[in-house]
Amino acid sequence: MNARAAVLAGLGGWLPPVRVTNDDLARELDTSDEWITTRTGIRQRFVVPPGLSTSGVAVEAGARALESAGAHRVDLLVLATSTPDHPCPATAPEVAGRLGLGPIPAFDVAAVCTGFVYALATASSMITAGVADSALVIGADTFSTILDPEDRTTRAIFGDGAGAAVLRAGHPAESGALLGFDLGSDGSQADLITVPGGGSEYRSKGLAEPGDAFFAMQGRPVFRNAVTRMSESSQRLVRRLGWPVESVDRLVAHQANIRILSAVGADLGLPDEKVVANLDRVGNTVAASIPLALTDAVATGSVVPGHRVLLCGFGGGLTWGAAALRFPDLSVEPLPYHAAPAELAPAH
Ligand code: UT7
Repeated sequence: MNARAAVLAGLGGWLPPVRVTNDDLARELDTSDEWITTRTGIRQRFVVPPGLSTSGVAVEAGARALESAGAHRVDLLVLATSTPDHPCPATAPEVAGRLGLGPIPAFDVAAVCTGFVYALATASSMITAGVADSALVIGADTFSTILDPEDRTTRAIFGDGAGAAVLRAGHPAESGALLGFDLGSDGSQADLITVPGGGSEYRSKGLAEPGDAFFAMQGRPVFRNAVTRMSESSQRLVRRLGWPVESVDRLVAHQANIRILSAVGADLGLPDEKVVANLDRVGNTVAASIPLALTDAVATGSVVPGHRVLLCGFGGGLTWGAAALRFPDLSVEPLPYHAAPAELAPAH
C-alpha cells in the first residue's frame, strides 16, 4: 500500500443570497410546487444576484473550507466548474488570487456534476505523487446564468452554490484518508446534457444562434443513466476496497433528484437513513452538489467521525465517479440556508 495518502482536513460550503422557491417559479412559468416537489424533491434553490459569478461563490466556499482546516495556505487549487467566469482563462487562478493563496498552481476541471469527484481524484493523486503537500478542492457552479428563462424543466432543478474541501498529505491508515476512486465517462451520450453553442465546434461551423448558449438536458435518459452509473461506480469501488456494501454508513451522492437518490440507495441495498439528501433546500448545484451535501451532513451530525462515507457523482459527458473515506473529526460551519428571502433574480 502507498505510504502516502491525501487526507480530508477541512470542509465548507456557501449559497448565494437570492432564494427562489417553487412558488416563485410557478409565478413565472407553467409549473407548480406540487409538480416540482413530487417529481424531484426540490423545494427551493439559491441563485446569484447580478454581479456575482462562479469565482465569487467559489471564494466564499474556499474561505470556509480553509477556516475549517485551520489553514491559511495550500500548495494547489483545483476548481470543478462548468460555468467558469470566462471560456478562457480558467477561473481557478482568479479564485486563488482572491483567497490570497499566492502563486500556487491552480486550474479548472470540467466534468459537470461529476466535477467535484474528478477534482478530488486529481488533487489526491497530486498529493500522493508528492507534487503537492496540500490542496484546496472547490466545486462551484452558477447554472442560473446559463439556463433558458423559459425552460421549466431545467429552471425547476438547478441552483447555484459552492462547496470545498482541504486535503493534506498523510497516511492511508488515518481517518480522513481518501482510500480510492472509481471514475468513468461515455462520450457517445454527450448530447444528453449540453450547452450547444459558445465553444469551438459551433464557431468553426458558423452555427451559433443566441439560444445555443443555454443549457439543455434530456431528462428521462439522463435519469436512467444517473441511477445505473452511480450504482455501478459505487459497487465497483466498495468491491475494490473490500468493503461489504452494508458497511457503508453514508452515501453522499449527486443531488439531482430525490427519486434518483432513492433508486441508487435501493440498488445498493442501503436504507434511506444512510442516503444523505439536502436537495430539497438547494436543488441541483452541479459541481457544488456533493461537497454541499457533505458539509450539511457533517454540520447537522448525520455524518460523524469514523463513518464509512461513499461519495458518488454523475453528470454531463457523460461522466461518473465515486470516492471513499473513513470520516475524520472536522469542525464545519452550517450552510447559510437562512439567507433572507429575496425577489427572484432576473434571468441573465
Ligand atoms: O445533474 C445532472 C444529472 N441530472 C439529472 O440527473 C436529472 C435527471 N432527470 C430528472 O430528474 C427528471 O427527468 C426531470 C425532473 C428532469 C423530469 O422529470 P420526469 O418525471 O422525467 O418528467 P418528463 O421529462 O418525462 O416530463 C413529464 C411531463 C412532460 O409533460 P407531457 O409531455 O407529459 O405533457 C413535461 O413537459 O412533465 C412536464 N414537465 C413539467 N411540468 C410542470 C417538465 N418539467 C415540468 C415542470 N413543471 N417544471
